[in-house]
Amino acid sequence: MNPAGPRKVAARIGALTGLGLVLAACSSGGGGDPAAYPEDDIEVIVPFSAGGPTDTVTRMVAEPMSEDLGVQLVVQNADGAGGTVGAGQAATADPDGYTVLMHHIGMSTAPALYEDLAYDPVADFKPVGLVTEVPMTIIARSDFEPETFEEFVTYVQDNADTVTMAHAGEGSASNLCGLLLTDALGVEVTAVPYDGTSPAMTELVGGQVDFMCDQTTNTTGQITGGKVKAYAVTTPERIEALPDLPTTAEGGQPGIEVSVWHGLYVPAETPDEIVTKLTDSLQVALADQTVIDQMADLGTAPVSEDQATPEAHAALLEEQIATWGEIIGAGQGG
Ligand code: MLT
Repeated sequence: MNPAGPRKVAARIGALTGLGLVLAACSSGGGGDPAAYPEDDIEVIVPFSAGGPTDTVTRMVAEPMSEDLGVQLVVQNADGAGGTVGAGQAATADPDGYTVLMHHIGMSTAPALYEDLAYDPVADFKPVGLVTEVPMTIIARSDFEPETFEEFVTYVQDNADTVTMAHAGEGSASNLCGLLLTDALGVEVTAVPYDGTSPAMTELVGGQVDFMCDQTTNTTGQITGGKVKAYAVTTPERIEALPDLPTTAEGGQPGIEVSVWHGLYVPAETPDEIVTKLTDSLQVALADQTVIDQMADLGTAPVSEDQATPEAHAALLEEQIATWGEIIGAGQGG
């Protein structure tokens, strides 16, 4: 990600303070002997709505992991407050391996954004492994006037007081990318928050909101199906799944570069033996040709085996918390 953009963005996202989070304690079945794990279904908390990008990635890996572990990984969507509600539920779950969390970059932005965050992403969780890194796309309702990314930039700049931008809550990927975009354009627009980009996409397709920045795992099908207008992809190079879509840099906005990493977590007190079993199973899932193909169709790919480990995941999480903390802290400081 280009460092110049986020620093300015920080001033706009840094004001989010004092948000009280209501966390529901979440108990899970199973328990018992780590050596015998797993003996029961495993709940996978997705902290955004069903049908969105986090949910899609989760379901892709849940199937081969279920097969590998011999029990069902059952997805539970616990959406709200930019992913912090679901993450909070996972933090207080029994540390028995029967509740896991799939989260993305938002795990690293939340500590700086939410003053009353009820969990610590490092102290309250053990990372299981990274999963994937997903490009984002800038899209709009199909009848939005601009045809090209350059026209989009001019249009948004000229009509900033009327255009609306959807996102999935403060600290979500769509929120961060949207702010990078509007910051690069030097405008503020009306942001419309949803509990995930799945409901946001429904409203975008329905024409109730103007544009959004969202992951290719949620946008590729809508773009190729002609349901939304696509302007640019936020990666340095074009992507194979959407070869005709120019990069933001090609459209004259190299500062808008962002992709969204995802990882799997368990509560901090979960025995290492259980974490190892989950990591091994995650690696099996990420090597599965069906998963590789499904991800490729949606513009992404599994991380390499050495990234799908607790060590690599912990290192990235800590680095990203520091990075975003600095960026957002700089924004709060003025
Ligand atoms: C985001 O913007 O962070 C994601 O799109 C959330 C989601 O999975 O809906």
